[in-house]
Amino acid sequence: MIKVVVHGALGRMGQAVVNAVCGAPELQLAGAVDIKADRDTLQVPDGAGEIPLFANIGTFLENFTPDVMVDFTQHDVVMPAIRTATENKVNVVIGTTGMSDDDFDEIDRLSRQHDVGAVVAPNFSLGAVLMMYLSRIAARFFDYAEIVEMHHEKKLDSPSGTAVTTAKEMARAREADFIHPESQKENLPGGRGADLSGIAIHSVRSPGFVASQEVILGTLGQTLRIRHDQINREGYGPGIVLAVKEVVKLKGLVVGLDKLMGL
Ligand SMILES: NC(=O)c1ccc[n+]([C@@H]2O[C@H](COP(=O)([O-])OP(=O)(O)OC[C@H]3O[C@@H](n4cnc5c(N)ncnc54)[C@H](O)[C@@H]3O)[C@@H](O)[C@H]2O)c1
Repeated sequence: MIKVVVHGALGRMGQAVVNAVCGAPELQLAGAVDIKADRDTLQVPDGAGEIPLFANIGTFLENFTPDVMVDFTQHDVVMPAIRTATENKVNVVIGTTGMSDDDFDEIDRLSRQHDVGAVVAPNFSLGAVLMMYLSRIAARFFDYAEIVEMHHEKKLDSPSGTAVTTAKEMARAREADFIHPESQKENLPGGRGADLSGIAIHSVRSPGFVASQEVILGTLGQTLRIRHDQINREGYGPGIVLAVKEVVKLKGLVVGLDKLMGL
């Protein structure tokens, strides 16, 4: 059994991680940590009982010895948590976004120094990772590409990080920019979307979406559409469970779920 502590357990993603870990036979939920903790225990789903709930990861690790910390918190919180976890010989799986290359260097150094594994994945959705991978493969065979990404109306930024990464990787795979037809006359500003390496990116913001993306590739007489729809946060569960099972076999940092999926 791999014992898991969830950091940020009361957040939107944290709750999804708690559910995913409870549903995975090879994993055991050792505890939950969240600064919002106002009680000592957390009721786990399906009547499986209660687990310890702490407000601070350091205090939790003084009392318990999990194998893996899964973190979905926020950028200013995650690095101190990783330092504490690795010093305590705990492997780390990180979903929190917004990390820099310096952060990656430090995580790799810390995990090697303390002989543990680390996985940082900006996207734990297996389908989204495959959508990006397939788009990369297709990129070489098409001259035109556009991305339509669709998210809930509360998303703060646009285009999405996934759309930007997809476009960058497609242009790199093609080793050239795509052909980007400009409008002779733009009836409204921004009508052709944002432009990255010739790929027009269009952002839809509306209730009813969690995270969707369609990559449309075109060449003479044909189009190829690669679409992924994230319907709810449960969809991240299989990717997170995969990362937890793999991180205990690693030494050092792996960035991206694709490497753990053998892509
Ligand atoms: N990698 C992915 O696939 C993926 C998917 C969705 C979201 N995210 C990222 O995950 C992160 C969390 O997203 P969310 O929507 O769950 O946010 P959220 O605000 O719902 O949850 C964050 C939780 O962290 C807790 N927290 C904050 N400071 C803390 C501290 N010092 N110690 C312990 N707990 C603390 C908060 O109380 C909150 O419960 C964000 O960075 C988001 O971008 C990643």
